[in-house]
Amino acid sequence: KTCILIGAPVDSGKRRAGCLMGPDAYRTAGLGRAIMDLGHGVEDRGNVAPRPYTERSDPKLHAPEETIAWTESLAEAAEAGLRDGLPIFMGGDHALSLGTVLGAMRHAEAESRPLFVLWLDAHSDYHTPETTDSGNLHGTPLGYVTARGDFPGFPPVATPLPQENIAIIGLRSVDPAERSALQQTRIQRVDMRDIDENGIARPLGAFLERVAAAGGMLHVSLDVDFLDPAVAPAVGTTVPGGATIREAHLVMEMLHDSGLMTSLDLVELNPFLDERGRTAQVMVDLAASALGRRVFDRPTRAY
Ligand code: ARG
Ligand code: MN
Ligand code: MN
Ligand code: MN
Repeated sequence: KTCILIGAPVDSGKRRAGCLMGPDAYRTAGLGRAIMDLGHGVEDRGNVAPRPYTERSDPKLHAPEETIAWTESLAEAAEAGLRDGLPIFMGGDHALSLGTVLGAMRHAEAESRPLFVLWLDAHSDYHTPETTDSGNLHGTPLGYVTARGDFPGFPPVATPLPQENIAIIGLRSVDPAERSALQQTRIQRVDMRDIDENGIARPLGAFLERVAAAGGMLHVSLDVDFLDPAVAPAVGTTVPGGATIREAHLVMEMLHDSGLMTSLDLVELNPFLDERGRTAQVMVDLAASALGRRVFDRPTRAY
């Protein structure tokens, strides 16, 4: 399947600027080349732009109109990308997923297939405009696509994503309002303690089995802060105690082996905070693992 690179320089989901530089950093770090070297076709569609908007001042939310505009543009780009191949969204902050998941939901509905979402993140991003304390809309995409609350001005979510079709892995920073709401949902929640106790392969494998059994499409959203800040410093919302490089590659390799992933977000990279491009490079290497890069074929032999 052709991989379709789509730049999504969204920076409206929080106050600290820099994620708009993400698509250039991914191109500079050689994302397209890495995927081509694995034998896939690659088409770079350039960067999406938000449809025209006028910002309003909101007592609570940061840049709501800009994020609404991005949501509309990106939902369309996602639908088109999914029709033509496997879209990879080069973010941009996590507010871009309001649009990309919405587009994936529309596409899956048109195909009469269920959509599943794998959220790799320190945070649950399960706020609504009402529950958010920060006013930062990058903390709301899972609240939006599940229709947890009202999102005035945003495209209506025709058929909400079923809670049981979502897994969040890597959790270690969940706000009180998200915590109490999440505990009453069927969203599969895997926090760092689960990973320490059981490893990351078991909960992920259980989720992938459910996706496969349902014949589902799978949208993967990879937040840089899923990783430990020691190995991925270029993110505004660092939380210590994150996934290791090895755990993250294992997730990506299992995704590839499953053959289930149909779209991918790379989000929250802030190149302004990076050290000689190392975080951008880690993200490119993880994307390559998700698309088939491996040391040896499995199972390995000869020991
Ligand atoms: N829960 C916090 C908030 O609402 C942090 C959200 C971080 N989200 C992210 N996509 N990095 O502000
Ligand atoms: Mn901003
Ligand atoms: Mn996030
Ligand atoms: Mn996060």
